[in-house]
Amino acid sequence: MERLRGAGVTTVEPIVDEAFGRSVGIRDPDGSRIQVNESDRSLYALNAGARTAAAARLARMADLVVEARGLTKRFGGFTAVDHVDFSVQRGEAFGFLGPNGAGKSSTMRMIGANSPVTEGHLRVLDLDPATHGQAVRARLGVVPQEDTLDTELTVFENLLIYGRYFGLPRSLLRERIGQLLDFVQLSERRGSKVDNLSGGMKRRLVIARALVSEPDVLLLDEPTTGLDPQARHLVWDRLYRLKQQGVTLILTTHYMDEAEQLCDRLVIMDRARIVAEGSPRELITAHVTREVVELRFPPGTQDAAAARLDGHARRVEVLPDRVLAYTDDADALATFVHGQDKGMHPVATVVRRATLEDVFLRLTGRSLVE
Ligand SMILES: Nc1ncnc2c1ncn2[C@@H]1O[C@H](COP(=O)(O)OP(=O)(O)O)[C@@H](O)[C@H]1O
Ligand SMILES: [Mg+2]
Repeated sequence: MERLRGAGVTTVEPIVDEAFGRSVGIRDPDGSRIQVNESDRSLYALNAGARTAAAARLARMADLVVEARGLTKRFGGFTAVDHVDFSVQRGEAFGFLGPNGAGKSSTMRMIGANSPVTEGHLRVLDLDPATHGQAVRARLGVVPQEDTLDTELTVFENLLIYGRYFGLPRSLLRERIGQLLDFVQLSERRGSKVDNLSGGMKRRLVIARALVSEPDVLLLDEPTTGLDPQARHLVWDRLYRLKQQGVTLILTTHYMDEAEQLCDRLVIMDRARIVAEGSPRELITAHVTREVVELRFPPGTQDAAAARLDGHARRVEVLPDRVLAYTDDADALATFVHGQDKGMHPVATVVRRATLEDVFLRLTGRSLVE
């Protein structure tokens, strides 16, 4: 897409209306200001239908951060991402939940213009990553799956060098880095070599690094994998704050609790495909019940006990080590199981809320973390 100079000093981009097959106006690269050509205003005015359609298209362009249709990635003959459809709206926290090997990172790298699309349609910030990779990369903050910090350098130096890639002046960077280190709670480690940081600190530093250019879209590939619970909560808290500040979050995870905590909307990915899409609550409502009773039985008695649950639970899932009974009233079911003459003698009973892990199990027959 050719870039035009607007009336002011800001660089603006033409708005191409596909129905008209040409530029009909201009907008800021971040989509915040849209201006339709005077001549096209009257053109749209001629036809109320066309005008409404055009207005809707323009609104969609401003709100859509990513749009993927039939997106596919192959490595030789192997298909890592197989015709997936999804879109991410400005300001939302959108997740890819799935086990190792599902194709999450491959999808993220295509979004980040770090890996070419094999087949399908992909727009990122209304740009085509194939032709505008550099523009896409410049506008996204990226937290890759593996920390790619310079371990020989200090915390401050890592951020400074990264900021210099963006051509940001040193004085501005000093101030911004100070603020970012406060934000990720690493101010006291400013002069520490990265080698000496804990896993959680390194992760927070990569997040700070992704924010150096003040992007309004952040891609996070497994932001808390391998961290202990306390370190994970600290990262979640920071991501939640960014979301509140209006940053669009696109993240991958194989932790169902992370997806539930952070994502407004998510897709469940398995074996290169998207198997479900919705908010955490919608997914649970659509695919499982509200509550679950987990039962452990003495060795050798599990199958017989599970059979007795038939007709009393909405669905029964028999796992190698336990039985899951899905129901809308877990307390009533637990009371029933423990009844005098019911012939079931569980050695452990856990009543809990249904989770995205249950949804994954239902849809794929497998567990998220193998
Ligand atoms: N560069 C590559 N070359 C060949 N195969 C790859 C490459 N990257 C990923 N894969 C394969 O693609 C599949 C999906 O990988 P990935 O996107 O990393 O999944 P996830 O991030 O969900 O764990 C895996 O089977 C992986 O081995
Ligand atoms: Mg991955």
